[in-house]
Amino acid sequence: MQRIPLLAGNWKMFPTLAEATELARGISTPAIPAGRQVMLAPPAPYLHGVGEILRESGVILASQNICWEAKGAFTGEISPTMLKEAGGTMAIVGHSERRQIFGETDKMVNTRLLGALQHDIIPILCIGETLEEREKEQTLAILEGQLLKGLTNVPNHSRSKIIVAYEPVWAIGTGKTATSKQAQEAHAFIRTALADIFDKTIAEQIRILYGGSVNPTTVDELMAEPDVDGALVGGAALQTDSFLRIINYTA
Ligand code: 13P
Repeated sequence: MQRIPLLAGNWKMFPTLAEATELARGISTPAIPAGRQVMLAPPAPYLHGVGEILRESGVILASQNICWEAKGAFTGEISPTMLKEAGGTMAIVGHSERRQIFGETDKMVNTRLLGALQHDIIPILCIGETLEEREKEQTLAILEGQLLKGLTNVPNHSRSKIIVAYEPVWAIGTGKTATSKQAQEAHAFIRTALADIFDKTIAEQIRILYGGSVNPTTVDELMAEPDVDGALVGGAALQTDSFLRIINYTA
């Protein structure tokens, strides 16, 4: 099963408008290498402007979170229809910063994921263990639980569209990338769990991205692993040169 590699940049709450504009221009100008996809998730206030820059470039626009409702009294939320109006087609859900800082539960993450699918937005479901959980050897149980709860009630026809991102919390923004062996182990486990939750055919189609201190030095080795289908990049996606190098990783 051929899974198209996805190189995704999550800008979090970092860039100024001027920086976001420059980055979007810099990333969308060179041709995307054949057989790969590139995605950018700017802060919500920049979605429309960045969407305008990315239009026709083939670079996918995503939001960093998504509401399950299209409109209404949901102060501070990002509507799926508004995202689509800006040209967006993907949304990150369940990022560890949403879970840890803003108290989002697996149930809420599941509601967001189902809402995204209902509005034809591809959700990127983030899962990952903390350092404490890894040290207590709970990693696989945590991943399985987050997957089971996050993927509850997904209709048959949309299952293969979902993207999973494995982001070990201890590797995010710390400079500590998981080794490619650690990433592969977790990804292989995730694929087996997906086969149990859905079925083997669907599990083979679902892309599993790795996230956590990915940089130009580590990307080649990570992408060489059979179950690593892409990267969700934070810090190294904030500079045009380093993210372009990541997009052009050596296979
Ligand atoms: P860093 O690449 O800065 O570690 O961030 C990873 C991440 O959280 C992407 O969503």
